[in-house]
Amino acid sequence: MTIDIKKCILEDSRKLQEISYETFSETFKHQNSPENMNAYLERAFNLKQLEKELSNIFSQYFFVYFNNEVAGYLKVNTNDAQSEEMGDESLEIERVYIKSKFQKHGLGKYLLNKAVEIALECNKKKIWLGVWEKNENAIAFYQKMGFVQTGAHAFYMGDEKQTDFIMTKELELAGE
Ligand SMILES: CC(C)(COP(=O)(O)OP(=O)(O)OC[C@H]1O[C@@H](n2cnc3c(N)ncnc32)[C@H](O)[C@@H]1OP(=O)(O)O)[C@@H](O)C(=O)NCCC(=O)NCCS
Repeated sequence: MTIDIKKCILEDSRKLQEISYETFSETFKHQNSPENMNAYLERAFNLKQLEKELSNIFSQYFFVYFNNEVAGYLKVNTNDAQSEEMGDESLEIERVYIKSKFQKHGLGKYLLNKAVEIALECNKKKIWLGVWEKNENAIAFYQKMGFVQTGAHAFYMGDEKQTDFIMTKELELAGE
């Protein structure tokens, strides 16, 4: 069993679109209308939008590979790429998605550890993320990884206003 990680480049936009559609759909289609799902998929994952994000120096995407097959991806943001104004001492995990057939093999944890590594390298003090209040699987996973709920914000799935919990993990900087 091998696990690898690779930072995405601009030329990965189509591959990124593919896995974004697939993982978002399998995660949320059972609890959302097809209209709202399609509206979100089109807005968030159109090629122009992904290319813009891949070109932003404050955003980074990574693919994780399980036995040489792409199994999931991670997106982290800092500075003004964060989706809330959290300041320069924070790093946001905006997306962490593992294809269902690869879940529970340690890949989500591997990607979260990557986010922690990046945050520490950049001297960030905390990592935060937004997670849909009904995504119980992800909430339990984040709690296991040491995140606690620190707030909430609105999230639009198509025209439906939903609530995302904001969860945060404080980092211990070396030497403190
Ligand atoms: C949430 C998600 C990223 C977790 O990734 P994963 O690869 O399945 O999780 P891992 O195998 O790395 O699990 C890491 C640890 O969390 C625990 N864990 C994972 N899911 C859990 C759950 N639902 N409840 C309790 N613990 C859980 C594991 O047991 C493991 O514990 P260990 O370190 O003691 O062995 C993955 O399930 C996923 O992509 N889900 C769909 C997309 C999604 O909801 N993304 C988040 C959007 S905000």
